[in-house]
Amino acid sequence: MSSQELPKLSLSKKDWKLRKDITFLNHGSYGACPISILEEQRKWVDLMEEQPVLFFRELNARMRVSREAIGTYLHAKPENICFMTNATYAVNVIAHSLGKYYMEEGDEIVTTDQEYGACKRAWDEHAMARGVKWVEAVMPIPCVSANEMLERLWEKVTRRTKIIFVSHISSPTAIRFPVEEMCKRAREQGIMTFIDGAHAPAQIDLNLETLGADFYTGNFHKWMCTPKGSAFLWVSDKFLKKITPLWVSWGSWIPTLKDSYFLDENEFLGTRDYSPFLTLPFALNWLHSHNWPTVQLRNRTLQLRTTLKLIQTIPGIRSMQKDGKPDGQLFMGVVLLPEGTNTEGMKAWLYDQRQVEVVVHKWLGHPIMRFSVHAHVSEEDCDRLVQTVKEYFTTQHILERPKL
Ligand SMILES: Cc1ncc(COP(=O)(O)O)c(C=O)c1O
Repeated sequence: MSSQELPKLSLSKKDWKLRKDITFLNHGSYGACPISILEEQRKWVDLMEEQPVLFFRELNARMRVSREAIGTYLHAKPENICFMTNATYAVNVIAHSLGKYYMEEGDEIVTTDQEYGACKRAWDEHAMARGVKWVEAVMPIPCVSANEMLERLWEKVTRRTKIIFVSHISSPTAIRFPVEEMCKRAREQGIMTFIDGAHAPAQIDLNLETLGADFYTGNFHKWMCTPKGSAFLWVSDKFLKKITPLWVSWGSWIPTLKDSYFLDENEFLGTRDYSPFLTLPFALNWLHSHNWPTVQLRNRTLQLRTTLKLIQTIPGIRSMQKDGKPDGQLFMGVVLLPEGTNTEGMKAWLYDQRQVEVVVHKWLGHPIMRFSVHAHVSEEDCDRLVQTVKEYFTTQHILERPKL
C-alpha cells in the first residue's frame, strides 16, 4: 500500500506529552493520554480540591453522567457498568465473588495459555486457593483459525466447568479470540463466561448487550487514551445482586442513587481519585471529534503494512498467523522472531542504542516482538522500526547458546 492510501488524521504526536526522542511503539502496555484529556482530568482534580465536601456530595450524580455516556458507547445499560481502576482489579472482584458464592472445590475454570499473568494470579488467590481448578487450552503458535481455537478450548470443557475465562485480545500474542461464539456455546451448556477485554475499548467496537458474556472487563486507559486508572466491569442482569467489592466501604448505608446493588457496593470505595472516571464523557467527545472510524482504519492499515513489511523483508521473521493472514482489526502487531533470538539483548539494544520502545520477549519459548500503532505513531516511526530491526539482525544478532 502506498502512503497516499493511508487516511489522514487530525491527531499526531504533538497532541500527546510523549517524548520526541523516543520512537514510541508500545502503546499497548500502559496506553498514553493526550494533553487535552489530561487537562480535562486536571479540571476535575481542581474542582475536588476547591471544595472537597461539596465535590463528594455531588459525586454520585456526576458518576452517573459518565456511566450513561459509557453505556451508550458500549451498548449497555448504565446500571450494569461499574467503573474500576483497572482490568486487574475487575478480575479480582469477579474471582473473589465467584470464589465465595458460586464455586466449590473441584469446579473448573477453562481458559487459554495466552492469559495475562496478573489475572491468573487473581483467580489463584480467590478461587484456586479454595480448590477450584485452572484448566488451560493450549493455543498453537503460530496461531490457528478462530474455529480451531474454539475447538481447542472446547476440548477442555467438562461437566465440572463452571466458567470460561478468556481474553478478548491476548496481551502477549495479540490474538483476537472468537468470544461471541464462545459465549453462545457456553450459555447453551449453562457455563458462565468472563471476557477480559483489557485491550478492546476503542481498538475494536463493542456491543456488550449482544456479545453475550456474563462478565466483561475493559480498560479505557489503553486504546481509548483516557487517564490511567479508568476501566470498567460489566455484569449481566443475573449477577447484579451478587458482586461484592474487594474492600468493603459504605455500600447502601449512605445515600446512593439506587441504580443497582452492584453499583451501590462497588462504585464508592471511600476517599480516592474519581477524576479518571469523570473525564470519560470528555474523552468520548474527543474520540468522536477526531472521527474514530478513520483513526481505526488508519491504525489498522499502518499496523498491517508494518507487520507485512517486517515479515517480507527480514529473513527469519515469521507471521504470528499460521496461514500468514493477519487479523486486520487490531492496532497491535506481533511477529515471531528467529528462533534463538536473545530477546533481552535485542530489547535493550533497540531502546538503549536506537530509542525504539517495543515489546520484545519470549512467550512460551517463542521469541516475539509486539508493536503498537496509534494516532501518535507516524509512518516514519513504523519505517524506523523496520530499519532498526533490520539493522539489529544484520549487525548485532547473536543467537543464544543452546542449553546443554
Ligand atoms: C489481557 C490483559 N488483561 C489485563 C491486563 C491488565 O490491565 P491493567 O494493568 O490495566 O489492570 C492487561 C494489561 O496489559 C492485559 O493485556
